[in-house]
Amino acid sequence: MNIPDAYSQLDQWNSVMFLYDSALKAINTKIEILNGEFVHIYGHTPIEHIKSRLKTPESIVKKLKGDGHEVTIENMVEKLSDIAGIRIICSFTQDIYKIADMIARQKDVTVLYVKDYIKQPKPNGYKSYHMVVTIPIYLTEGPVETKVEIQIRTVAMDFWASLEHKIYYKFEGNAPDFLEAELKACADMVDMLDAKMFSLNQSILALGQDGLE
Ligand code: GTP
Ligand code: MG
Repeated sequence: MNIPDAYSQLDQWNSVMFLYDSALKAINTKIEILNGEFVHIYGHTPIEHIKSRLKTPESIVKKLKGDGHEVTIENMVEKLSDIAGIRIICSFTQDIYKIADMIARQKDVTVLYVKDYIKQPKPNGYKSYHMVVTIPIYLTEGPVETKVEIQIRTVAMDFWASLEHKIYYKFEGNAPDFLEAELKACADMVDMLDAKMFSLNQSILALGQDGLE
């Protein structure tokens, strides 16, 4: 990203945040269109809901400091990949890969990297599909490739992640062992529930019904 030196720090901040906000809007629109198209191809709506957010100045500073970087706008643009974040919540694990593939195949979307915590869950039981992409934002002086972190997970995985996040923050990362064990057990139940709901839906589809919408 090329930011004119003459800009004041505040102007730089505002123009950078304007880019991330625009990138969220652009990706959101793409996802809504893909969701509509998905209905035609697969006969059901894959996406339950979408949440998007811009990282707050406080968490940007905290993250940069925590990672040992100087707090500068340049570092925030270079080092952080989740200033613009979108979370897509689906019904079924199988739909996650179809949605991820649809996003990756968009001509103007560049996938920087993927972290597949579904195929390789984190030791605590966390499951989710993460993609960091860039999308060009067309300003008057030309396109600016802007990073967006996309997290895709099922309703059940999201339920688990919200509670885990709450516990993690409450205990500042040092939750008692029994809670960690309980969370891990819940993560296994999430797997079972996701698998069961999928096979149930498949059976309903095979019977010629509309499936679980
Ligand atoms: P940070 O975790 O943000 O430092 O980045 P990273 O480079 O480790 O990326 P990663 O893909 O592991 O995590 C990015 C985001 O995913 C986090 O900011 C969280 O929103 C989410 N996430 C990752 N791991 C967990 C987890 O164990 N529990 C929960 N609840 N969320 C997680
Ligand atoms: Mg992490």
